[in-house]
Amino acid sequence: MTPVAPGSVIGILGGGQLGRMLANAAQRLGFDVDIYCPEAVAPAARACRRHWQGAYDDTALLTEFAKACDVVTLEFENIPVAATEIIEATGTHLFPGAKSLAVSQDRADEKAFLNGIGIATADYRVIDSDLDIAPALLELGGTGLLKTRREGYDGKGQAWIRSPHDIATAWADVLGAPCVLEAGIAFEREISVLVARSSRGETATWAPPHNVHRDGILAISSVPSGLPHDVEQAARAQAIRLVDALGHVGVLALELFVLPDGRLIANEFAPRVHNSGHWTPEACQTGQFEQHIRAICGWPLGDTRRLFDAEMVNLIGEAGLVDPDKLSPGDVLTLYGKHEARPGRKMGHITRRLNPRKD
Ligand SMILES: Nc1ncnc2c1ncn2[C@@H]1O[C@H](COP(=O)(O)OP(=O)(O)O)[C@@H](O)[C@H]1O
Ligand SMILES: [Mg+2]
Repeated sequence: MTPVAPGSVIGILGGGQLGRMLANAAQRLGFDVDIYCPEAVAPAARACRRHWQGAYDDTALLTEFAKACDVVTLEFENIPVAATEIIEATGTHLFPGAKSLAVSQDRADEKAFLNGIGIATADYRVIDSDLDIAPALLELGGTGLLKTRREGYDGKGQAWIRSPHDIATAWADVLGAPCVLEAGIAFEREISVLVARSSRGETATWAPPHNVHRDGILAISSVPSGLPHDVEQAARAQAIRLVDALGHVGVLALELFVLPDGRLIANEFAPRVHNSGHWTPEACQTGQFEQHIRAICGWPLGDTRRLFDAEMVNLIGEAGLVDPDKLSPGDVLTLYGKHEARPGRKMGHITRRLNPRKD
């Protein structure tokens, strides 16, 4: 693929904060950005050249949008695969491809795919009806996490089952949707690997952050992770194996549990830029948003070297109503431009650069 030249138009499916930060990075490299999303008001739609407001099944509007763009990408993994097919039918490239999207949209397919390429996940059972739960629970050792196969995020669509008495409530919590039941993992910590793969097949990873979740939502990501070098290297190697196997183009985040003995258990992956990589623009030579744009435009990847120890703190709900007078001068603040601070809503984040790296 010939590189997409500065001045071209990058289309993004999805209007959230990830799209907004992708748009900012693309604009800095000289691109124009068009956003396609159903919402009338959206963080990314306020930071672009043109906002195409439409449904993901509006063939005519998606086609017109695709024709107006030189390359299309996405910031949201639950875009219907059919929408990506409509775009590709116009001859405009869409990255990442349908494979990354389809596999990551279904937790059962995702785990089977990871296991198939030699990446360990929690033991799991596919749950099609509430009658499947009791035997699966027994096989998994009596405790499990029920997760909807599709459309869960920020801990939504999940319910713990710690005894057969919990089954009915858990099944009601997930609204009887098709699920997987996963064995509970007694992890020592959670990390993620941000990895980029370009349309030329070049790959690069960043140092894996240590991620702390609160109420199922990412609260803090920090680097260094505190893990031994060989564990980090093994995690990075898994992420590269994954993007190569998917033929993925763009950034991808692989979430991993680390067991007390250092073994890695993959949790899930997102075929896009990720909240746990929000520290990379401030702490690394090249951040995840710029890298994603480079990758989908067929540019060489940037250097992912980490220049600082760093901590990224999410501003969730009311915490996102920032009083500028209360900021520390060293805090790098990013706000997503959301007008209403609902509980659990990601409003922005702060990155703190800690020690400069000397090595
Ligand atoms: N099998 C598991 N065992 C223990 N904790 C889990 C397990 N699966 C998920 N969790 C916890 O719940 C969080 C959210 O689950 P995840 O599958 O990543 O869903 P989401 O799509 O909401 O991010 C994880 O980051 C982890 O803290
Ligand atoms: Mg997750």
